[in-house]
Amino acid sequence: MNMNINISPATLNDWNQVNQLQLQSQLDLNQTSNPTYRSEMEQKGFLLGEYSFQEYQSHIKDIFLLAKIEQKLVGYIRISHQMEFRDNQQKKWVNDQEKIEYYHPPHAEIGAIVISTKFSGQGIATMLLSKAIEKLQPEHSSLYSIIAIAPILNKPSLQFHQKNNFKKVSSGSPSQLFGFLNYQSELLKLRLVT
Ligand SMILES: CC(C)(COP(=O)(O)OP(=O)(O)OC[C@H]1O[C@@H](n2cnc3c(N)ncnc32)[C@H](O)[C@@H]1OP(=O)(O)O)[C@@H](O)C(=O)NCCC(=O)NCCS
Repeated sequence: MNMNINISPATLNDWNQVNQLQLQSQLDLNQTSNPTYRSEMEQKGFLLGEYSFQEYQSHIKDIFLLAKIEQKLVGYIRISHQMEFRDNQQKKWVNDQEKIEYYHPPHAEIGAIVISTKFSGQGIATMLLSKAIEKLQPEHSSLYSIIAIAPILNKPSLQFHQKNNFKKVSSGSPSQLFGFLNYQSELLKLRLVT
């Protein structure tokens, strides 16, 4: 499946393609009251929030890998070293140790992972994930990721993470985020050391 896929670090020249893919995958808040749209996005997966060129410029200094087929962008993964599962809402941790570990550097989490719908289900996200992990080891012993579970469950994302052995370590209570009144997410963790 992966014969023609090239994985390379993102550069400034890739912005237009990255932006296009981001916009295609971004949840349209104006349509979320439409049941058909909601169930479509639940099946396809989605990204939340807008993404600017300024953010891109700073993110490409970090781990930001692109998957291309004949120069055409088909997906990307971005690793963040910020603790994006912010402590500004009630959270239920599976145990205290997990909470301590999450807020303890060095820290790495998936800032975004997205594959063009035309190329989904072909293992490309898994390939990007394993390349990112290669770059994180041995310094990092864990990789975190946040999944939106309400008001729209990101099913492909949840299954993708479960398939790749991420385990739930915390869940947030409903809060006002990304334009929703009742946004809810879960924090998942993948242990990297063997
Ligand atoms: C989630 C996403 C990145 C998965 O990418 P992908 O390249 O299709 O994933 P892979 O082919 O590597 O799939 C690995 C596993 O993920 C799960 N999976 C992938 N796509 C799925 C889908 N549409 N529905 C259910 N499970 C899915 C499967 O368990 C799959 O394993 P399998 O093929 O052996 O059954 C992709 O669907 C996507 O970009 N969605 C939109 C953006 C998004 O939701 N990003 C995550 C939030 S940041």
